[in-house]
Formats: sequence, C-alpha cells, structure tokens
Amino acid sequence: MNACIRAVVRTAVAADVEVLGIRRGYNGLIHNDMSALDRKCVANIMHKGGTIIETSRCPEFKTVEGRAKAIRVLEEAGVTGLILLGGDGTFRGGTLLADECNVGIVGVPTTIDNDVYGTDYTIGFDTAINTALDAIDRIRDTALSLERLFFVEVMGHHTGFIALESGIAGGAEELIIPEAPLSSEELCTKLKVAFNRGKKSAIVVVAEAEQPGYSFKIAQEVKKNIDIDSRVCILGHIQRGGPPTARDRVLASILGSTAVKALLDGESGCMVGEVRNEITYTPLHYTWEKSKGLSPHLEELAGLLSA
Ligand code: F6P
Repeated sequence: MNACIRAVVRTAVAADVEVLGIRRGYNGLIHNDMSALDRKCVANIMHKGGTIIETSRCPEFKTVEGRAKAIRVLEEAGVTGLILLGGDGTFRGGTLLADECNVGIVGVPTTIDNDVYGTDYTIGFDTAINTALDAIDRIRDTALSLERLFFVEVMGHHTGFIALESGIAGGAEELIIPEAPLSSEELCTKLKVAFNRGKKSAIVVVAEAEQPGYSFKIAQEVKKNIDIDSRVCILGHIQRGGPPTARDRVLASILGSTAVKALLDGESGCMVGEVRNEITYTPLHYTWEKSKGLSPHLEELAGLLSA
C-alpha cells in the first residue's frame, strides 16, 4: 500500500493537484483525520509493509449517518476526488458513497486475498504468497528430515487464491481450498496412494476458509486413518507484513498512478485494475457483486503435479 500511496502523491503533485492522506480509512474520513501529503512525505516508504496512513475496519461507514458525516468532511475540505485503497468491504462502502455525493471516486485493489473482480492480481497478494512460500520451503526441511505430514494453513478469507499459488510454487502434495472441497476421506485416500508409492513426508496447504484453525480439524481426522506423525502450522498475519515484492511494488506504482489519471480524466465510480497486462476500469459495484474464480488451468496443474 505504501508504494501505491507514493505513486498517488507523486502523480498528483506532478499534475499540480494537492493530496490529503486520510488516516485509518473510513474512520479518519468520518472524524476528519486528514493531513497534507507532499512528495517528501512519501519518500523512503516503498520497502515498508502496512501503510503509513494506517487502516481500520469501520462499521459506522455502513450507516447512512456515518457516510453523511464523511461527505460533510469531504465537502468542507474541498475534496474533489477520492482514491480508495482496499478490497470488497472498502468498495461496498465506496459504491454507496459514490451514489450519495459528487466527489469523484476511484478504487485501487489492495488485499492479500486477491478476491477482487476486475483485476488479475491485487496489491499485496504477491508478497503474501512469497511469504507463504518461504514458510512452506522451511517447513519442508522438517517434513523431509523427520518423515512427517504437515498441514500449512494460509490466509485468504473465503477463497483459495493464496493456497493455490503458494501450494503450486511450494510443491504441495495436496491442497484444501473452498472452491474445490475435499473430504478428509478423499484426502486420506490420496495421501495413502502417495505414501504407498514411497513418499515419506508430505505438505498439505490448507486455505483458512471461513474458520481460521480449520487445519487442526482436518489433521485430527486424517490422524484416525493414516499412521504418520503430523503437525499443523498456521501462518497467520506474517502473510500480511514485511517488505513487499518487486512485483507488488510495480503493480502498486502502476495502479496508484493510474487512479490519479483516471480522476483527472473525469472517471468515477470505478476501480482500476490490470487484466492480462492491460489497464482496466471496472464499475465499483462489479468488484464486489461479481466473484472472481480461481484459474481452472492452475487448479488442474496443481492436481497434475502434486503427490
Ligand atoms: O482480508 C485479508 C485477511 O488477511 C484475510 O485473509 C484474513 O482472513 C483476514 O484479513 C484477517 O483479518 P483480521 O486481521 O481482522 O483478523
């Protein structure tokens, strides 16, 4: 997100446009917590995870009264364009706001989950999968050395984007993702085939789905059927921090800069994204009304190459 903020500020300043940073997302908007951002404020932040202007969840913004307060703050500050960095929750709020005020609104997809319609990749996803991959590689050392079965649980909310790509990259023996549910019996059958073929260890990458900690349940069920020492490792919030990858920084720079240009061109009520290397503008309401599926090709590949 910092690379995106930097791109927004520097593109706007180059076009003689003043920028205000809103602290803690919609909370800061409602409570008028904003300050000017100039070129210098965004120097030396590219390599930092998180966001210099902070973020938060804001239930109040879901109410008409909450948004009315935000609109008053925007009007009093003379804001003519608003750039929203976030995922589906942010864009739901942004869609309502766009209908209720005259400020131009453009979204930029930033979530590690990659579950936003209208862009192939969201900012943060690449960093998250590389962090998960690093962990999987490290865990494989123990799995191999001690002949163990590992369940590595990754984030992703209700989607399997992180599990699928980190699983393929980490050579996971099996994946458990919400988009292609696998019962514990089916998982045991697949693992037994692999162990009968001579495998002595395995890594199952599990998407947290609705319930973080889900992998403990699967591990317990598998234990009843397969006689192998197993462990669970929940990666959790380490996937949401740390220095962003080059790919994320470049995507953030492109989309942040594009969002400013979109506003200057009079675009509003849309999200900027990248689809097959082309910049796209998607109506903001599509980004959360429509769902983005996993790549069928990648799903097939994961099955073909695993075990
Ligand atoms: O939406 C991003 C995400 O990291 C999900 O993958 C995860 O389920 C959730 O946020 C965790 O949220 P919190 O930090 O509020 O527990």
